[in-house]
Amino acid sequence: MACYTTHSRAETVELGSRLAETLAPGSLVLFTGGLGAGKTAFCEGIAKGLGCTDPASSPTFSIVNYYRGPRPFAHFDLYRLQNAEDLEVAGFYDYLDEGAVVAAEWSENFAGLLAGEPAVRVDIRTVDENTRTITIEGGAL
Ligand SMILES: Nc1ncnc2c1ncn2[C@@H]1O[C@H](COP(=O)(O)OP(=O)(O)OP(=O)(O)O)[C@@H](O)[C@H]1O
Ligand SMILES: [Mg+2]
Repeated sequence: MACYTTHSRAETVELGSRLAETLAPGSLVLFTGGLGAGKTAFCEGIAKGLGCTDPASSPTFSIVNYYRGPRPFAHFDLYRLQNAEDLEVAGFYDYLDEGAVVAAEWSENFAGLLAGEPAVRVDIRTVDENTRTITIEGGAL
């Protein structure tokens, strides 16, 4: 387990980018942390680190953003999903099977279902306006 403190959005993006460099195809990255913690910022870094050139935006209103490229990336927001079927219909497992790197914000909504999945687990806690503590479990960072 590794623990980091970031002091700006840019530092969190950078950490995401560094994590991406360690991720094999088909890796799953599960995020926990409250509203506005910085999960989307971290995912922007993952997209950059994987070599995706499209700017990463929050998938809050689209459930999943998919980035093509040499190392494809599927960025989910599970905030509005309810059950296992929602997850399947959204293509969650298909993206993993295809070898995309899959990241999921609000994985706490599926804590039971995803408990047994091999994953890198990233928890982001808000300390103050610009400070976050970021704990990464199960990864190579
Ligand atoms: N150290 C930091 N790391 C990341 N974001 C930071 C940091 N300090 C301040 N911020 C700000 O916090 C906000 C994080 O927003 P972001 O959308 O990434 O969070 P989120 O966890 O995805 O939120 P949501 O729960 O709505 O999905 C941004 O406005 C960003 O500028
Ligand atoms: Mg978000």
